[in-house]
Amino acid sequence: MSNEQGLSILAISGSLRRTSLNTAALSAARELAPAGATVTLQTLHDIPPYDEDVRAEGVPEPVQRLRAAIGAADALLICTPEYNYSVPGVLKNAIDWASRPPDQPFDAKPIAIMGVSPGRLGTARAQYQLRQVFVFLNGLVLNRPEVMIAGANELFDPHGKLADDPTRERIRDLVGALVEWARRF
Ligand code: FNR
Repeated sequence: MSNEQGLSILAISGSLRRTSLNTAALSAARELAPAGATVTLQTLHDIPPYDEDVRAEGVPEPVQRLRAAIGAADALLICTPEYNYSVPGVLKNAIDWASRPPDQPFDAKPIAIMGVSPGRLGTARAQYQLRQVFVFLNGLVLNRPEVMIAGANELFDPHGKLADDPTRERIRDLVGALVEWARRF
């Protein structure tokens, strides 16, 4: 699975916001990845709303690129906000597009989930709903560590960098565990 370049992790942010805390947490994950693992950030700006009629005319290029990137990655790291106690539409929409047959790319894919919120539960509810989605898609979601980053307004510096050392360590642990998890398959 992994090649001589090491293990490739596609890091998907569930937020489109320029100053997204979730995207910033993935930037931290990229810095904290163990030697031999590379983390590539993926945002979802160019994914159109899912429309079966559009699909019938041909899968849009951005969706094709996303599917190819997911398929080519050794593992996925998804960092999601929580919207109204659930998965943001932008992320669910991208998963819906990518999941359509043939060869849906989440099948047997090692996946880790994390999330960041200024609120008190740190996206716990959204993360559990996302896990449920991957039950159907047969994604191999890592059980632990669970990284639910709460009270996030206190954790980032004015430049948007994750500045809280304990939180950085939790992310380091998660990426390390994902690498070990992916190497099992
Ligand atoms: C939110 N937010 C939010 N937070 C939370 O912990 N639980 C929730 O259910 C919600 N619901 C919600 C709905 C909508 C429509 C928005 C726009 C926001 C707040 C959210 O956690 C906050 O805006 C984060 O900063 C979003 O993540 P990014 O964009 O910073 O990555």
